[in-house]
Amino acid sequence: MTTKDYSKYFQAPSYTDAKKRGKDEIRVHYDFSISDEMSRFGANKRYMIRTYGCQMNEHDTETMKGMLEAMGFTSTEDKREADVILLNTCAIRENAEDKVFGELGHLKHLKMEKPNVVLGVCGCMSQEEGVVQRILTKHQHVDLIFGTHNIHRLPKLLQDAYFDKEMVVEVWSKEGDIVENLPKKREGMKAWVNIMYGCDKFCTYCIVPYTRGKERSRRPEDVIAEVRELARQGYKEVTLLGQNVNAYGKDFEDIEYRFGDLMDDIRKIDIPRIRFTTSHPRDFDDHLIEVLAKGGNLVEHIHLPVQSGNTDVLKKMSRKYSREQYLELVAKIKRAMPDVVLTTDIIVGFPGETEEQFQDTLSLVKEVRYDSAYTFIYSPREGTPAAGMADDIPPEEKSARLIRLNDALNEISREANERLRGQTVEVLVEGVSKNNADMLSGRTRSNKLVHFQGPRELIGTFAKVTVTEPMTWFIKGELAGTDSPAVANL
Ligand code: 5AD
Ligand code: SF4
Repeated sequence: MTTKDYSKYFQAPSYTDAKKRGKDEIRVHYDFSISDEMSRFGANKRYMIRTYGCQMNEHDTETMKGMLEAMGFTSTEDKREADVILLNTCAIRENAEDKVFGELGHLKHLKMEKPNVVLGVCGCMSQEEGVVQRILTKHQHVDLIFGTHNIHRLPKLLQDAYFDKEMVVEVWSKEGDIVENLPKKREGMKAWVNIMYGCDKFCTYCIVPYTRGKERSRRPEDVIAEVRELARQGYKEVTLLGQNVNAYGKDFEDIEYRFGDLMDDIRKIDIPRIRFTTSHPRDFDDHLIEVLAKGGNLVEHIHLPVQSGNTDVLKKMSRKYSREQYLELVAKIKRAMPDVVLTTDIIVGFPGETEEQFQDTLSLVKEVRYDSAYTFIYSPREGTPAAGMADDIPPEEKSARLIRLNDALNEISREANERLRGQTVEVLVEGVSKNNADMLSGRTRSNKLVHFQGPRELIGTFAKVTVTEPMTWFIKGELAGTDSPAVANL
């Protein structure tokens, strides 16, 4: 196979640029628009976006859908019907990447049958040096690669990809400015709202500071206006998003306004539930705890990734807190919010982690008593400092530690849920249960999954459910009441 000439549009990612954290002022653009000509571009064409990874990526997909629909495209879930297929990728662990390369392999056949389909790769993998090279050489059926800082350029890039025979690659390694007013297509009764972009923490295992760039906060008035508008539209729940929400506002030069201040303003908006994710223990300050303790629409759930329970491992991870500091923070939060539900992220098998160090993680988990946790085996990410650290722990040992950790966590989850037996909880009813069409499913304020029997009219409303069967990963209950005027006599 001959190699194509990519020189025309080629802008490949560079980790050297992505690592830079300059003092350049962040500009906010309010002038995004789709021209009349562009708004007809997608007429009679369909798009499909497959999303991998975190909520930030899910929300980016909503933005891309919004732009595509403003261009006249309609959506489809069937790739055979699609004129544009985008893979919004995740780079956090190797298995996330393997899934994308597998999908690219499948799509090659489709592309041979339907050569006019535009196939694009975007999201975090596009920001990786090695990945772009691999796509350029081994997946030449891809038409378009664009990065996380180039999302607002989608309409233009898509046009280029349509009319150009060569692969269009545009990945800015240096983060862009903040672009407001991008159209968004949200579904359901829960909405995500970005409050900041990027991450400056540089934990040694993590690729995110390279794929998402430096920390940039949206202006408070823009965030507040967006949440107010969502309240007006009747959304029941808003999740504020950032890779490290606790760093919100650190980059403002003209105002002293941090995450606690933002939460204090947002709680006054008439929306039933406000959540946030994800927080870094290091920047979790007293003012924020004080504001969260006010409750109301600020739910009593905090996701507080710990990663490891051993101070030496935390140091090697560059987490910038010790086991003791983390536990002190947890104690402070629990004092202020006695009903708080804590969840976390944990990595096992970090390079060189000893059995004793792993046991510190086990003991921390038992001390904090998380209601649930996301647990991972460490996955080396090329370009990060930890990828170069000596690692003599066999893969079987890492897998065994993951199982031991999950067993401990599951026992705690079950006990925590057991304590809810007989209690009545408030559930935001999201839909019909995935596994049982006779049941409805929803979430409590603390984000626990609840299944119960009830009329479909309850979907999108709050129901009172009495817990009858607490399990490890979900709860079963019986409908005890509803605020919904559509369902009388309950
Ligand atoms: N290997 C395994 N897990 C990782 N995470 C981040 N980077 C890695 C990696 N290289 C986990 C962390 C983080 C969550 C989103 O993913 O626990 O909090
Ligand atoms: Fe994956 Fe992290 Fe990118 Fe989210 S920010 S998509 S978790 S790599």
